[in-house]
Order: sequence, then C-alpha cells, then structure tokens
Amino acid sequence: MPPTIMRQPALTATASYLALESHAADARHWQLRALFAADPQRFPALTTDAAGLFLDYSKNRVDATTIALLLELARERGVEARRDAMFAGDKINLTEHRAVLHTALRLPRGAALTVDGQDVVADVHAVLDRMKEFSERVRGGAWLGHSGKPITDIVNIGIGGSDLGPKMVTLALRSYARPRLTTHFVSNVDGHDIDAVLGRVDPATTLFIIASKTFVTAETMLNAHTARSWFLASATEADLARHFVAVSTNTAAIKAFGIDPANMFPFWDWVGGRYSVWSSIGLSVALAVGFGYFSDLLAGAHAMDEHFRTAPLETNMPVLLAMTGFWNRQFLGCATLSIAPYHQDLSRFPAYLQQLEMESNGKRVTQSGAAVDTPTCPVVWGECGTNAQHAYFQLLHQGTDVTPIDFIATLRATHDLPGHHAALLANCFAQSEAFMKGKTADEVRADLQGGALTAAEIEALVPHKTFPGNRPSNTILMDQLTPLSLGALIALYEHKTFVQGVLWDVNSFDQWGVELGKVLAQQIQSELTGAPAPQRHDSSTNGLILMAKAAQHI
Ligand code: F6P
Repeated sequence: MPPTIMRQPALTATASYLALESHAADARHWQLRALFAADPQRFPALTTDAAGLFLDYSKNRVDATTIALLLELARERGVEARRDAMFAGDKINLTEHRAVLHTALRLPRGAALTVDGQDVVADVHAVLDRMKEFSERVRGGAWLGHSGKPITDIVNIGIGGSDLGPKMVTLALRSYARPRLTTHFVSNVDGHDIDAVLGRVDPATTLFIIASKTFVTAETMLNAHTARSWFLASATEADLARHFVAVSTNTAAIKAFGIDPANMFPFWDWVGGRYSVWSSIGLSVALAVGFGYFSDLLAGAHAMDEHFRTAPLETNMPVLLAMTGFWNRQFLGCATLSIAPYHQDLSRFPAYLQQLEMESNGKRVTQSGAAVDTPTCPVVWGECGTNAQHAYFQLLHQGTDVTPIDFIATLRATHDLPGHHAALLANCFAQSEAFMKGKTADEVRADLQGGALTAAEIEALVPHKTFPGNRPSNTILMDQLTPLSLGALIALYEHKTFVQGVLWDVNSFDQWGVELGKVLAQQIQSELTGAPAPQRHDSSTNGLILMAKAAQHI
C-alpha cells in the first residue's frame, strides 16, 4: 500500500517565509563590511562547532533576526519531525516506498534500531565484520591471486554513488593508505578510462570490485564485462573467484555475472547510491586505508549524526549551513554554490557534493507532485584553492553574479614541509576577507595616488580595480584531515542537503531525472551499432548518429 503523500502548504505561503521576504527587502541592501564594523561580537555570535568541525557563517549577509526567522521557517516546515522520521527508519522516500537509513550504517555495534521487524544494526555489523576480515586478508597478503601471489592492485568499477564516494574518500585519506596496495577507479563507459587502468595492472595480482547497488547500470556492466574478458585472456573461469568481488543489493544479477555469492558484500535498498560510501560500497576505502580507519570514518559521521539529531536548531551545524545556503538561494538570488577546499586531498570533494546535493535536491515538483513555487538546488561546483584563485576567482570577485563560497580548510597539515600550510591558510582567509570587504573606489584611488600615474589615468583605472565585495561565504575548519573529521564533514553536507530538501518539500532520495537519457542511449546505441538508419529522432540527432556511423563504417 503506497504511503499517503500529505500536501504541504506552498513554501511561499508559510507565515515565516512571508516574514523572511519582508525582512529580505531590507537585508538585500546590507553591506557585510558595515555589519562587521557595527558588531565586534559578530564572529563569536555566528559560529558554531560540532564533531570536530568549526563553522564560521558570519560572512553571510545575515543578522540575528535573519537567523531567528530562518529557524522559524525550519520549524514551520517540520525539519525536526522529518529528521526524527528519517533516523527512525520511516519510509520517507515516498516515490520509491523506502526508508532512508544511511545514518544506520554508522551506528555503533549494540545500538538499537529495528525496521520492519529486522534488527538493522545487527545486519550492518555482520557485513562490516565480513569487510574487516576480507580487507585484512587482502592487505596482509593472505588473500592470494590465482598464481599464488598477493594482491597489489584494487580496481573499483562503479559509477555515481558507487564511485564518487569511495574515490573521494580514498584520495582524501591518501596519507593513511598502505603503499603496497594501489587503488584505481573506473567509472566512465568511455573505454579510455578502463583501458588506461588495465594498461597499468597485472591480472595475476589485481582484485576487481564490481560496485553497483542495482547491478544493472549500463556503464558499470560494460566495464565489468571488459575487465572479465581481459582477465580471462590469461586465466580460467575457476580463477575468477580470487579476483572478482561484488558490492550490491542484487544477488541474482551477481550470480548471473559469474561472481561467487560468497564474494558478495551486500547492502540494502534503504541506502541511496549517493549516501552509500558508509556501506560495503566503501570496501575499496577499507582496502586502501585499513578497516580501522574506515571505522573511524563511520565514527566521525556518527558524531555528526548525533549532533544533528540532538542539538538545538540555534547551534545545529547542518541546519545553520542549510539555512544560510537557503537564504542565499531564495532571497539573494544566488543560482550556484562554489566549494573551495583548501586541501589538495579534498580535490574530489566538490564532485562528490555535486551528486549529493544536485541529484538529491535538483527537483521541480514537491512530494505531492505540485510544481515548486521557488527555485530549488543551486548548481554546485568548485575546485581546490589556491588553484581556483588563478582560474575563475576573477569572476567571483568582479563578475556580475554573486556566488556564495564554502571554504574548507584544516588548521594543521599532515605533512611537515616548512612554509606551505601558512601560505595556504593565508590565501584561504584572505579570499574570504576579500569577498566580504571588496575594495571601494576611494581605496583604489588612495592606493594609486602618489605613484607615477596622472589623475586622469587613475580615474580611468578606478572602475577596473574596484571590488564590490559583500559576497557571502562560509568557512569550515577542522584540526587535520583525518578519517574522523572527514566522516563528520561528509555527514554535515548530507544533513544540510536533507534540511534543504525538507524546506523545498522535494523528495531528496529519488533520481528520476537520470532515467530519460538512459532509455534514449539504449535506443541510439542499437541504431549506432545495428543496420537500421536512425529515423525516430529530430534532424539534429539523426544527423549526429549518421556522422558517427559513417566515421565508424557501421
Ligand atoms: O543513474 C544515477 C544512479 O542511479 C545514481 O543515483 C547511482 O549512484 C548511480 O546511478 C549508480 O547506480 P548503481 O550503484 O546501481 O550502479
């Protein structure tokens, strides 16, 4: 019996939204410089810490009233009740009739959570125990390839949540990895991706993890079959069991592929793909860094879960991050959000957040199917500082759009090279200051006066050298990038995404928007590789297909 979908009042009709709208009419004229000048307590007032993370949201165009009104809206939209329903295992993914329980994946052993009569925590820890045992055997050299040699290379084949999470985390925790094992990731259906990896590894010492929740995803299945054929060129079917393991919810499909179910690490339909790095999808992480550090990652996330679940909204970090982002999107008209990790090992974090936020909240109808009445998820993008500074920060400082930025940095480095970390942090803090303050025309004039330029030359330069400032940012700090702090950071953004989904009343846990392209790609693939000429498309698509057929002589 499908769950009843309660129609929420339209967002713009809620009392607190209306109050925010009239507040915003004023706030749009505020200058961050003036807000800081007027209140020396702004930094302590608009910062919070949790689970080893510190959030400075004082460089947003908000004051205490804005925050109070935003939290009123969160309450009016039922954020607390929805949060409790998620943690309790209610089937809040209404279009797929599923619970949303990635938080259960990081519950400590012995915690109590029963869903549909099933002890979820016991199930989770049974799989974790198998991951521990398996990763220790592979890392310790006890798991041997078919020719008796230990494994040297792990190749994770997956896409979307079955790739982005493990890849981002493995890179972020690079300094915790064991050098003897190299981890590779193949995701793209583009054969250049797997070709490059297969060219670097030895089949006798390579372990493939086929990671797919559904085990039907076209890209992953093609890559998995390519890997299998490549392996079988120098081994027998009987050897597959030493070199192929699967991470999936689909036992029948992994059997059909030829993987021994004993080599399958299961998870459950209540784990969304983009929320799955904590499940057996994280097997490549456990292999790369060891099960102990993988457990720390889970513990860091659990600490953030507990904070999100119990802290008052006024100091609740995911809620505050969500609400300031919502303010920028709804009331200041910011269409994108840029993520700037000032840590090279977080270079895949922006890509990870793209799936997390945009696949979750890139929706245009509410849970009951009505059209939303405000914009929803901003476009999320980004790149590591300081590289980003020398590429696109020009536009962020002086372009015509205002782009909020999340700066993410660690107070201490994990290397001990002199000079680098102070230079990195100096750049991070300087950028958030520059975005906030800008540089006025008078300040530009004062800089230029007394030099070699004439008054006319100075005036000609002034508009070019002026910075409007007043550009919002958050700064997230942690002591060091560790499995614990990384776990907390990922969970922070998961819960931020959840809160914003509740505000917009969208289903943050389905992704129907990826289906149309999949179906069309299947049709076009048969036209590209088969005899019939394309007919059913528009003239552009037909023309492109014919060009490709001509080039490939098909
Ligand atoms: O097509 C989108 C998607 O369903 C993502 O949500 C998911 O993370 C990805 O494909 C991979 O899915 P699977 O793990 O089932 O192969």
